[in-house]
Amino acid sequence: MANVAVIGAQWGDEGKGKVVDWLASRADVVVRYQGGHNAGHTLVVGTETYKLALLPSGLVRGKLGVIGNGVVIDPEALLAEIARVRAQGLIVTPETLRIADNAVLILPMHGALDRAREEARGDRKIGTTGRGIGPAYEDKVARRAIRVCDLAEPETLDTKLDELLRHHNTLLASLGSPIFDKQTVLARLLELAPLVLQYAEPVWERLDTLRKEGKRILFEGAQAVMLDVDHGTYPYVTSSNTVAATAASGAGVGPHAVGFVLGIAKAYTTRVGSGPFPSELHDDIGKLLGERGQEFGTNTGRPRRCGWFDACMVRQAVKVGGIQGLVLTKLDILDGLPELRICTGYRINGTVVHHLPAAPGAQAAAEPNYEIMEGWSGSSRGARSWADLPAQAIKYVRRIEELVEAPVTLVSTSPERDDTIMVRDPFED
Ligand code: GDP
Ligand code: IMO
Ligand code: MG
Repeated sequence: MANVAVIGAQWGDEGKGKVVDWLASRADVVVRYQGGHNAGHTLVVGTETYKLALLPSGLVRGKLGVIGNGVVIDPEALLAEIARVRAQGLIVTPETLRIADNAVLILPMHGALDRAREEARGDRKIGTTGRGIGPAYEDKVARRAIRVCDLAEPETLDTKLDELLRHHNTLLASLGSPIFDKQTVLARLLELAPLVLQYAEPVWERLDTLRKEGKRILFEGAQAVMLDVDHGTYPYVTSSNTVAATAASGAGVGPHAVGFVLGIAKAYTTRVGSGPFPSELHDDIGKLLGERGQEFGTNTGRPRRCGWFDACMVRQAVKVGGIQGLVLTKLDILDGLPELRICTGYRINGTVVHHLPAAPGAQAAAEPNYEIMEGWSGSSRGARSWADLPAQAIKYVRRIEELVEAPVTLVSTSPERDDTIMVRDPFED
């Protein structure tokens, strides 16, 4: 199978960036198809660390990067990120980066509304990244969004902004937030237009041509199945679909083009933001995982909540996300723990269930049922083959594979690109 899609199987930050970077050596093009600069993907290559939010991770290997129509693009964030990675020595030009002309733009009022609403939610905060992702997707569905291609028709922007600001300024004023002046927004958009338009094209056509030429496409997911707007822990989710099926609609290819679906999961669980987390640890082990795993948001710096591996949840992500192979990351962080727990189901008001129910009340009430396993005393850090792993670590990986009902394809044992065990080549599956 020629193409591969990489998606998160938990609540994000599983190490998708590392895995995409590793796989990119085998691909010709890397495509982002949903989310926006709420994503934070870290790639460690020798002494250099790249933190990407919007740019496809394949750019680090010099592979063509495509931002599909399903992504919401903040032009200011995009240009700032391009400047940042160029300063690190990466080459980003209209030859190496293409952006869908039908992708939706995130404008300053989206971020302002996102943050004002969060403020107004008080204790019921979703814990969004405050980057305007939700409001931008809302505008897309409401058919009032400004898209990349609109920048090429400046004469239409004035009327489009009228409609957009009528909506947003009303909401912002009702929340006691400053409102936006149309002329200021318009003037800035016109300044940004040529800078963004140099990358714009109907990317579906390019992807079609590349496919005909037999080129390999790697689809890079952002966020994760449990943050999917349909399948996740709603309303504590992001505003896009994160399951593998989205790779097709968010890039402009057919479902058959998505190829082999890799789900990425940490060997434990983390979550940023609010919402249910049945296997969360509030004790010293949780603290240890956070410290050892350096569990802080890649771009936001927010601490991540930590807990045991939840096989029940990942199994659900495997089913709804279309995951065919599992990548287990950060196994090294469990080194030396005498005992490990794996959540295999939940007790909800006295009943045992083997899926996370949809209703928020039931999700919040879910108590984990644990299976206990012996830990390992040796080190798995930096392992590049099964032979490098402690026997008990292999048992842990094999047990997870059994419980989540997906074969382990890769295991990651450090942030470094090559500290990866390949069990099967996903491009050959
Ligand atoms: P993403 O959003 O899924 O791309 O993940 P992030 O980059 O936000 O967070 C994953 C973090 O874990 C990053 O700091 C990576 O460098 C790091 N990481 C990835 N894989 C491993 C691993 O196997 N072991 C360790 N110790 N760190 C890893
Ligand atoms: P990557 O691609 C982890 C979370 C936010 C919040 C919820 C909604 O790096 O895995 P949003 O700003 O999207 O409206 O916030 O989703 N969230 C992420 N958590 N990793 C991410 O991306 C995330 N992107 C959004 O913390 O709980
Ligand atoms: Mg991240």
